[in-house]
Amino acid sequence: MVLRKERAVVPVVSEAIRLGGDTSAGSMAEFAETALGWRLEDKQRELLTGCGKRVILNCTRQWGKSWMAAVALLFHAVHHAESLSIVAGPTLRQSAELLKKVKDLAWRMGLAARGDGINRQSVVLPNRSRIVAVPGNSPDGIRGFSGVTMLVIDEASMVRDEVYAAARPMLTQKDGSIWLLSTPKDEEGFYYREFTEGAEDWRRVVAPATECPRFKPEQLEAERASLGARLFAQEFLCEFVAAGDGLFDKAWFDDVFCEAARPLGLEW
Ligand SMILES: Nc1ncnc2c1ncn2[C@@H]1O[C@H](COP(=O)(O)OP(=O)(O)OP(=O)(O)O)[C@@H](O)[C@H]1O
Ligand SMILES: [Mg+2]
Repeated sequence: MVLRKERAVVPVVSEAIRLGGDTSAGSMAEFAETALGWRLEDKQRELLTGCGKRVILNCTRQWGKSWMAAVALLFHAVHHAESLSIVAGPTLRQSAELLKKVKDLAWRMGLAARGDGINRQSVVLPNRSRIVAVPGNSPDGIRGFSGVTMLVIDEASMVRDEVYAAARPMLTQKDGSIWLLSTPKDEEGFYYREFTEGAEDWRRVVAPATECPRFKPEQLEAERASLGARLFAQEFLCEFVAAGDGLFDKAWFDDVFCEAARPLGLEW
């Protein structure tokens, strides 16, 4: 639901910037609703309420993963003066797209945001907090930053393990936060491993489309019919599908082959 369209300036933000950032965190959910102009869905609100340092979102397409991360990045930058956040995605276009969401939110909150003069895809706030978007298609694109306080990897199931390995050490010096966002892909890669067998302190959020009020059942049926069971499970039901799974649709196999075999006295 759209709450408001006009540009909003929120006192908590101005105050945080004036004092250099480290004021009380306030409510990220409230900040999100003001900046986004939406009413958060229950699961989104739950996510933004005490989400901790490590977050994995395994949610349907169009759940709001990227917008939730944009809110978290801006909130972090506002409340931690001179912080450095890095946004990575499989390509620079994808990470820049998330950075644009951060810029849009900053604009709506009345925050002056400019580039850092070094990185083409970057934002610096008045409290000198910086957010930089980098490509995640090679470890080299992500090395070279010091004292990172927040790392967001969008479309994480499509990002290579080497990139994750290059990125994580940057968080060690400032005990930074990390968010991994994605719909699932194969049963491999760091996103799959962290989700299924990673440390217990990850906050794992799973949101299939069937539990999201914005998706109508008939829409989902149309998507299932168009994509097929395997891709539908991946894109909308948050299911990791092992490579090779679903090459044969079992129901189709039973219908076609078993029925054809029966008169010949063959059984499957
Ligand atoms: N609470 C909400 N109220 C209204 N619209 C919402 C809400 N949450 C999400 N949306 C809609 O969902 C859209 C998709 O958001 P976003 O791009 O962040 O999703 P995503 O999960 O990253 O999608 P994808 O997997 O395709 O990248 C938003 O642009 C908005 O239109
Ligand atoms: Mg997205």
